[in-house]
Amino acid sequence: MSTTRKLYIKTYGCQMNVYDSERMGEAMEGQGYEATDNPEDADLILLNTCHIREKAAEKVYSELGRFRALKAERPDLKIGVAGCVAQAEGEEIMRRQPLVDLVVGPQSYHRLPELEAAARQGKRALDTDFPEEDKFEHLNARPKAKRGPTAFLTVQEGCDKFCAFCVVPYTRGAEVSRPADRVLREARDLVERGVREITLLGQNVNAYHGAAADGDWSLARLVRELAEIDGLDRIRYTTSHPNDMSDDLIAAHGEIEKLMPYLHLPVQSGSDRILKRMNRSHTAESYLRLIERMREARPDILISGDFIVGFPEETDQDFEDTLRLVEEVEYGQCYSFKYSTRPGTPAAERALVDPAVADERLQRLQALLRRQQTAVQDRMVGQEVGVLFEKPGREDGQLVGKSDHLHSVFVDAPGHQIGDLVRVRITASAPNSLAGTLI
Ligand code: 5AD
Ligand code: SF4
Repeated sequence: MSTTRKLYIKTYGCQMNVYDSERMGEAMEGQGYEATDNPEDADLILLNTCHIREKAAEKVYSELGRFRALKAERPDLKIGVAGCVAQAEGEEIMRRQPLVDLVVGPQSYHRLPELEAAARQGKRALDTDFPEEDKFEHLNARPKAKRGPTAFLTVQEGCDKFCAFCVVPYTRGAEVSRPADRVLREARDLVERGVREITLLGQNVNAYHGAAADGDWSLARLVRELAEIDGLDRIRYTTSHPNDMSDDLIAAHGEIEKLMPYLHLPVQSGSDRILKRMNRSHTAESYLRLIERMREARPDILISGDFIVGFPEETDQDFEDTLRLVEEVEYGQCYSFKYSTRPGTPAAERALVDPAVADERLQRLQALLRRQQTAVQDRMVGQEVGVLFEKPGREDGQLVGKSDHLHSVFVDAPGHQIGDLVRVRITASAPNSLAGTLI
């Protein structure tokens, strides 16, 4: 007799974790599990964790503490930690938190069913090994369930760049690209299940070089081939590194209509001195030239980025250089973080900037980025954009979707439904969203 068990997954961190959580859910479907949004109903709770900054990692321990009462009530509830904290601190988690039944790293989750089975037999199971081959090769599940109109598709994983502040090369491992035919197959499968927009994911997605019958494909080649799929209307990709922005990828932005006018291209700092200390191997000037070329290829492209302030030894002058670079780029969207020491990274050995100074710099940077984001958004008013409806709006007959430039747009659209791709004239700009009318 088979009974359905319930799986609750909580996802932290980046979009790649969102994708991994979906795949873990599918892997456990094969074991008779179905998803639940409520941890109180769950037979298995998985935290898919993020290790990028200290705060992200701390959250895991406080969240685990919250499940203590639940586990006391229902001893057969199993609790697992997955993702990058599992990779970096798996054994410590097992020691510190007797509640945890299983630990699975981001490169091992295809073995989740076996780990779960061991946990059911009362063992505590840990697997943070890196597989010999691409873990995705082990994930043969091809679920048939209908999907919403947008999906993530991981095409590349890991990083060989070793920025001095970053844990990714250690938690996710070396750069691996998925073979092109597998990516195409998964994309076609998603489209058959209702997906119209795919965001290709990778820690260094523009370094993609997936094996194919006619030699390795670049990201630009992959995008061109994906654009041939009928029913797939929009393609995005993230995250990119300035050094891997090849000529063919830049050209693709001017040539492929389905490739959306949005580029997330982190630079981290505007000071060459700091960029060097970060081991970034590009300069502020080379980044600015790259942005210029992107805008020549696709004049309406919206540029997004990431910044770290308070990196060890950052001076007032270094920070002013960052502000100047931001002024020059004019970002439509940006993420900025205070430097967080990550054990095991080269920068962890270096002298910290006074935290009060770092806080003040972060506030100044964020105020500037907010002004830019508002200005870019305000300029959309009066323009015509595509919008793919993703969910209902606040009012009757209203739908919300993302514009080509990834702005959230509220539209009165009676008679339309989620999954429709429509042309919209933008009529108003509010904090973090736009309003528009159907054309
Ligand atoms: N401290 C602060 N921010 C960091 N990031 C990566 N590592 C750190 C760190 N140690 C930021 C970078 C990166 C983004 C995903 O997270 O800006 O682009
Ligand atoms: Fe981390 Fe740098 Fe690699 Fe990005 S490029 S994942 S910041 S090491």
